Amino acid sequence: MYESVHRPVARLRSLRSVTLLTPRAAESADFYSEVWGLVPVERDGAAAWLRGTGRQHHILELAEAERNALGKIAFAVAGRPQVDEAARRLTGHGVPLVTEPGPLDQVGGGYGLRFADPEGRLIELSADVEAVAPGDPGGLPAVPRKLAHVVLNTVDIDAACDFYTRVLGMRISDWSEHQMAFLRCNTDHHVIAFNQAEWTSINHVAYEMTSIDHFMRGIGRLRHHGLTPLWGPGRHGPGNNTFSYFADPAGLVCEYTSEVEQVEEDTWLCRTWRRTPELSDLWGTAGPPSRDVRVRMAGVPDPGHAAVHRAGTPPPGEAPSEGTTP
Ligand SMILES: [Fe+2]
Repeated sequence: MYESVHRPVARLRSLRSVTLLTPRAAESADFYSEVWGLVPVERDGAAAWLRGTGRQHHILELAEAERNALGKIAFAVAGRPQVDEAARRLTGHGVPLVTEPGPLDQVGGGYGLRFADPEGRLIELSADVEAVAPGDPGGLPAVPRKLAHVVLNTVDIDAACDFYTRVLGMRISDWSEHQMAFLRCNTDHHVIAFNQAEWTSINHVAYEMTSIDHFMRGIGRLRHHGLTPLWGPGRHGPGNNTFSYFADPAGLVCEYTSEVEQVEEDTWLCRTWRRTPELSDLWGTAGPPSRDVRVRMAGVPDPGHAAVHRAGTPPPGEAPSEGTTP
């Protein structure tokens, strides 16, 4: 008889939302609603919840903190039984629960659980979160439909990939040498990517535009606001998605993307891409990433969920240095 504890804890259906902690949450909320194109759902002091034109209740949560950090990443699972089963299997994998399965006391509600990954990132698995009627995906202005992916800096890319594949059941779509790994949980080429780095931190968050026309219109809107891309526009090799990177008021990197490659599960072959300018920037329009964007993507050391919630605990590491990019 096969023991279930060795199986992944759940079949993750999609990336729901990301929570970013920042000392400039209110300013960032204004940026993401008035410039970036997200729709404000709710504000509570400096905290804010924003959605795209898709069905997710919200895709971005902002909360005030002493320094930039990841608050949590939320994934959808099929239903309450899957949440309960995930709790049992997490225990079997030796992963303690931060929040036991139950109704989520948060904006959008739902039923879920939370745990920390090996580098202290808080992960939420949820079902029955309030869904909303989608906006007009082809309408104007061109605004993000959903969260496309979150790229995470990791101090141990192999350990990170092992946890996310073995415990969370994600699949590795491609590698960029041994520097980056792109992981999927559905047909999107990646919803999470890991970047080998000097410290754990958030590298960037990408928002999917419905078409390349909307992608370009979004870049145009930011230009109208006086913001030019830190890097892009261009098209990446791994994932074949368009990219244009910007910085939000807290200095966190945000990306417009579109046309993310769709994976045919039964026939997909994981590749290892060489890290050459031609493959990072297929169109040849973006050029190499600047030192500025690499430093911003390196971010500041993230002490992890437990430390963030212990007031006054200094995070490890010092000031940011030059990082690496996709
Ligand atoms: Fe990206």
